[in-house]
Amino acid sequence: MTPRIEEALATLKEYGIEGPFDYGIVLGTGLGPVADLVQNPVIIPYAQIVGFPKGHVSGHSARVVAGTIGTSRVFMMQGRAHYYEHGDPAIMRYPIEAMAALGIKNLILTNAAGSLLEDVPPGSLSLIADHINLSGINPLIGINDDSRFVPMVDAYEPHLRARLIDAAREAGLSLTEGIYQWFPGSSFETPAEIRASKMLGATLVGMSTVPEVILARRIGLYVAALSMVTNYGAGLFGGAPSHTETKTVAAEGGMRMKTLLAQFFKKA
Ligand code: HPA
Repeated sequence: MTPRIEEALATLKEYGIEGPFDYGIVLGTGLGPVADLVQNPVIIPYAQIVGFPKGHVSGHSARVVAGTIGTSRVFMMQGRAHYYEHGDPAIMRYPIEAMAALGIKNLILTNAAGSLLEDVPPGSLSLIADHINLSGINPLIGINDDSRFVPMVDAYEPHLRARLIDAAREAGLSLTEGIYQWFPGSSFETPAEIRASKMLGATLVGMSTVPEVILARRIGLYVAALSMVTNYGAGLFGGAPSHTETKTVAAEGGMRMKTLLAQFFKKA
């Protein structure tokens, strides 16, 4: 464990947050209200915790909400940091490693995303089955040992995916599976980029999550990732994404994300 993580754990302990936790959860843009699911929450601003990101994106809180959902102990990050804020693709490395040090094996990531499929309209939930990262950016660049050669087959863990699909069915929610292409942002994609992305096989686009998945897989965490579709990709079906739209639609659709996770944790 690096000193930074020991320090982070010591701060968390001062606030009464100690492992083991069962699940880590990261909430994306506009999805902060999902934290209402957490019972007996202990809340700490990231600013208090060494190695945790400082919040800069509207639509994101920047705090840990730790507690229980059903019978599971969860460590929720209400808001994340993105590559485009700092130019550091490994900005989420220490929070993810701190979660692993707290005993977490399963990490559920959420985000707001653009959809490239007409029948997955704004307001839909989609489960990420795989991703495309052709950005040339990788959070492992600079890690100079063999842990950098991370296999990415089944990076989105099939068993967790199956359980989320079951939970959606049980809750009466529609949940498609999608392929998420990471764009580093912070400008949205051009219509030409979206057409290219679609030809490559992507069904979702977004500016987060992928670096976190890579960092989490490097240390053996099981990952699932859920997208709240906030818009169609630029130029598709009238799509003209903006951050305002992302925040508004994610907040409206956040209730569905909350229902899905509540159902998931009934059986977790
Ligand atoms: N592109 C990139 N990121 C996004 C989008 C989008 O269309 N919607 C929400 N986040």
